[in-house]
Amino acid sequence: MSSDLTAPAVPGARLGEPLPEALLDDGERMTREQLGELQLDRLRATLRHAYENVEQYRKKFDEAGVKPDDCRTLGDLARFPFTTKADLRDTYPFGMFAVPMADVRRIHASSGTTGRPTVVGYTENDISMWADMIARSIRAAGGRAGHKVHISYGYGLFTGGLGAHYGAERAGCTVIPASGGMTARQVQIIQDFKPEIIMVTPSYMLTLLDEFERQGVDPRSTSLEVGIFGAEPWTEEMRREIEERMDIHAVDIYGLSEVIGPGVAQECVETKDGLHVWEDNFLPEVVDPFTGEVLPDGEHGELVFTSLTKEALPIIRYRTRDLTRLLPGTARPAFRRIEKITGRSDDMIILRGVNVFPSQIEEIVLRTPGVAPHFQLQLTRRERMDHMTVRVEARAETGPDQREAAARIIAQGVKDGVGVSVEVAIVDPETLERSLGKLHRVKDLRKP
Ligand code: DLL
Repeated sequence: MSSDLTAPAVPGARLGEPLPEALLDDGERMTREQLGELQLDRLRATLRHAYENVEQYRKKFDEAGVKPDDCRTLGDLARFPFTTKADLRDTYPFGMFAVPMADVRRIHASSGTTGRPTVVGYTENDISMWADMIARSIRAAGGRAGHKVHISYGYGLFTGGLGAHYGAERAGCTVIPASGGMTARQVQIIQDFKPEIIMVTPSYMLTLLDEFERQGVDPRSTSLEVGIFGAEPWTEEMRREIEERMDIHAVDIYGLSEVIGPGVAQECVETKDGLHVWEDNFLPEVVDPFTGEVLPDGEHGELVFTSLTKEALPIIRYRTRDLTRLLPGTARPAFRRIEKITGRSDDMIILRGVNVFPSQIEEIVLRTPGVAPHFQLQLTRRERMDHMTVRVEARAETGPDQREAAARIIAQGVKDGVGVSVEVAIVDPETLERSLGKLHRVKDLRKP
């Protein structure tokens, strides 16, 4: 990208105001029509690159009877086969790489709760494009050159830490590479180094918030102005909770390792209305999760991504399992938005025939008085029936009567809002496991 991404902060630029024209990069200045042309060129080149250099793609395209040149319009992409996590697992570790190892500058891997991790690779150009996309995301969030960015996403094989790091440097910010953990020290560092921006999972932000309070520091009094939160689902209720307790703007960042890492889509601080997909590099589709049929914009389904510029690991029609819909652009008119992702198809709990997403419970817990935003969903089996207990922490000042009332409100809220009966246990403050990165809310204690 040729624009000067390290342009100095615009004097007087205020958070929550539209990004000054001067700070838009070349991609953001495109019209939707120009973008479409660029996407088609890049898509055709990516399909060729994948077909010529990755055996798995060659095999799958041949089986489906399609050749890269069959893609003459963006709509033709629907004729090409999907890629899933299984493709990456089957070719573990490097079988999907499309360049010689000598050109791979970096490797990341997703932890993978079951089976082998998913391994992804980056060339120098890939790392640079990724940094550009994160820099663009930071500016969209209100960050400017000269700001200090405290990064609490984990560093290491996880893409969060290093991804954010290179992008914040590219944006001309000063990086504080805190990584996850050592929570008490992070709070100290935030007070001493005075960052304007924090990049962290929303659940670890709650852990940090509690630590501020434990140390007797008013979280509203810190230097922080913006939090860029992602890597896990979080709700509007959680946004309100964090914004009010910290007096900051809380905006959403989305991404996944297979596509690049964080920085695939970003919410703009001036609108906070879903995440603009950086479509010059990542082409989104939404498909019916059961039939795989492409759905029109506006309809809910599973998000699918095709990379448009990646060299080391071109990814064609990757099934993310994330559920959302595509909406027209607003603050960045050329780029479509995705609605905030509040669930994955594999996060969904089927409780006695009713689909339950942890985010639905989050909404209810967070609007209930007397309880903290910490909860866990425990699944057990009783008399051959699945049973869910919502374990929620009381706030320190909440008395026994209020606890009972809170339990009733939550149980009723779940029954009315989700349509299923659950047990609610209000537990003592500081008793549930805290997040150090991505939080696992569901404890499945059912026998296999
Ligand atoms: O979580 C990359 C990332 C790091 C994104 C830091 C944002 C910030 P993975 O570990 O591969 O990569 O996990 C990707 O996490 O498919 C979603 O299910 C979930 N996810 C990521 N961002 C969001 C978000 C990183 N903003 C998986 N909202 C994705 C909801 C998210 N879910």
